[in-house]
Amino acid sequence: MSNISSNTNLQAYRASVLHFQQDPAFHEKAYAWHEDGLLIVEDGRIVAAGEYAQLHTSLPEGIDVIDYRGKLIVPGFIDTHIHYPQTDMIASPAPGLLPWLETYTFPTERQFADINHSAQVAHFFIDELLRCGTTTAMVYCTVHPESVEAFFAESEARNLRMVAGKVLMDRNCAEFLRDTAEGGIRESEELIKKWHKRGRQLYAITPRFAPTSSDAQMQLAGELAQAYPDTFLQTHVAENTDEVAWVKSLYPKARSYLDVYDQYGMLRPRAMYGHCIWLDDADRARMAETQSAVAMCPTSNFFLGSGLFNFERADAQQVSLSLATDVGGGTSFSMLRTMNEAYKMARLGGTYLPALRMFYLATLGGARSMQLEGTIGNFGKDAEADFIVLDPQATPLLARRTSHTESLDELLFALALLGDDRTVAATYAAGKLVHQRQAGHN
Ligand code: GUN
Ligand code: ZN
Repeated sequence: MSNISSNTNLQAYRASVLHFQQDPAFHEKAYAWHEDGLLIVEDGRIVAAGEYAQLHTSLPEGIDVIDYRGKLIVPGFIDTHIHYPQTDMIASPAPGLLPWLETYTFPTERQFADINHSAQVAHFFIDELLRCGTTTAMVYCTVHPESVEAFFAESEARNLRMVAGKVLMDRNCAEFLRDTAEGGIRESEELIKKWHKRGRQLYAITPRFAPTSSDAQMQLAGELAQAYPDTFLQTHVAENTDEVAWVKSLYPKARSYLDVYDQYGMLRPRAMYGHCIWLDDADRARMAETQSAVAMCPTSNFFLGSGLFNFERADAQQVSLSLATDVGGGTSFSMLRTMNEAYKMARLGGTYLPALRMFYLATLGGARSMQLEGTIGNFGKDAEADFIVLDPQATPLLARRTSHTESLDELLFALALLGDDRTVAATYAAGKLVHQRQAGHN
């Protein structure tokens, strides 16, 4: 460790340390696990992650090692699909996606024309993400540019790596939420120029979904996505059977719902497709070929009764997968709770999701599906130091269960199935403590 300087910006954390180098579904040696581990951070980046016994002798004199023994350090969770304006309408009852959008979503999103309201919700939303250990998210704002300004300002103030974008929608929604084909694209381009790659902020071109954009808007959104290839793109696809039928009637010439986006040039690296439940093999082949990625949203899919994600076919066709909450369609900000429901979704579909895979999907899987491996998602040298401290004793029940887990798999499984925001003892972003659980909050 000769390259460690005597810089005072060096920090070291002792705990069990887990992170991934590969997808455990396809590789035997996919992860590193250091039961008595040390994570070394300097100037907001990872210097090393390894065995305490090997690494601690390399630390310069006078560095205090922060002692998290008994806890696990893992990379910060990555939530690849979430709507910050829906924070205040989480857990709103409706019989399915389309009535839920009409009754709750659109009226709630109307309020984000006001930048002060946007700022206040963005502040709460980011607090909640950090409480749950999520350090990066792909975030839908609303149709109002103010909602995007407020979100990025809040994320930038905390130095978080976030991806967000202005919703594009110029038809099939209330008048008060409509932009125009040209106006929406112009506003998106202005936001790209202002925010994309400013500090840790990244922009996502965000057509809400095919039914709420005209042909003209879809065409321009696809062109914008080609003109700015290093931006992200996010949208919804094949979530619900009524929605799929609606898209078929709106775009009768398309081979499938996904094909609508394909026709407009929206399948590409850094394109994140929410849900992907009602895809067929030809769709999945196009996703894999174009390096487009899936954001699986199990709590939302159960809540809205949308359907079950097909893990078996997605894996057989090597589609890039990630895990997401989809709040407010999703019922929790917690990626641990989301793992719990992903596990059950896999079981109902006849497959089995090991705990290591769930933790992969919530960390490196998310980073890879966003083409951000090396930047976030694991503890490779020089990666950004976004990490969380998980407490296996966070609740009486977790403590009791984890007191006799006999393998890493069992320990992670207990955390995934019993864990939530209380399990996150601390959250660090770019090496800085950004959340610490208060004593007595379990
Ligand atoms: N499809 C279009 N908009 C939305 C949304 O806000 N939430 C979900 N779950 N699906 C959508
Ligand atoms: Zn969504």
